[in-house]
Amino acid sequence: MKGIILAGGLGTRLRPLTNVTNKHLLPVYDKPMIYYPLLTLVDAGIKDILLVTGGNNAGDFLRLIGNGSAFGLKHVNYTYQKGEGGIAEALGLAEHFADGEKVVVILGDNIIEGSIRSTVEAFKRQRAGARILIKKVPDPERFGVVVFKKGKIARVEEKPKRPKSSYIVTGIYMYDARVFDIIRTLKPSRRGELEITDVNNDYIRKNQMEYDILKGWWSDCGAFDSLLKASNLVAGKSRKTG
Ligand code: G1P
Repeated sequence: MKGIILAGGLGTRLRPLTNVTNKHLLPVYDKPMIYYPLLTLVDAGIKDILLVTGGNNAGDFLRLIGNGSAFGLKHVNYTYQKGEGGIAEALGLAEHFADGEKVVVILGDNIIEGSIRSTVEAFKRQRAGARILIKKVPDPERFGVVVFKKGKIARVEEKPKRPKSSYIVTGIYMYDARVFDIIRTLKPSRRGELEITDVNNDYIRKNQMEYDILKGWWSDCGAFDSLLKASNLVAGKSRKTG
């Protein structure tokens, strides 16, 4: 299975921190943010990785990560997203790389305590469709919120004012090759982006979506508070494990 890290966007919610650099190069405790999703994929046994980035600082990723030798990799693939067309648009750029295989997608600002290995293994065994990792959080209105019906996911609502559950879709998604056909059918949302939530709802409508609940803590780093929270969680983990 191939891995894709999405690290584009302008990180506007973190200005002025992101005025002269890409959000995913900012520090989270003792490492640049982008290290964490890379380590998550490598830990899950994924060695063929594409990094999608953009903006003025795209070259810095190459200088920082190179061919991935610090992560035990021999080679890393890179591609470039112009502007801010959204997560699904960024993923669309990976079609050539995926080349018909299943993919694991992780947002460049998603940091986890544990491992996604068991979900990746389960998705390998899954014949087709998609698989997401969901998590219970105290502030679901900031995310894609899961709406359940009879224990199954009925749909995902993107940043609803009144969330219908406390479970949100983390930025870790697994898709079969059909994902690229779905992306081609999407229309920009109110924020002018192609939404990954619309991709997930397409799989849900077709009864092709499985999910696991992510164990351990999880944080994104999209705003000042979550960036600080992520740094503190990583610091706590590193004190615990030494
Ligand atoms: C994105 C997705 C959202 C998801 C979140 C996870 O939000 O749109 O559904 O819950 O990532 O990090 P964004 O950070 O682009 O606002």
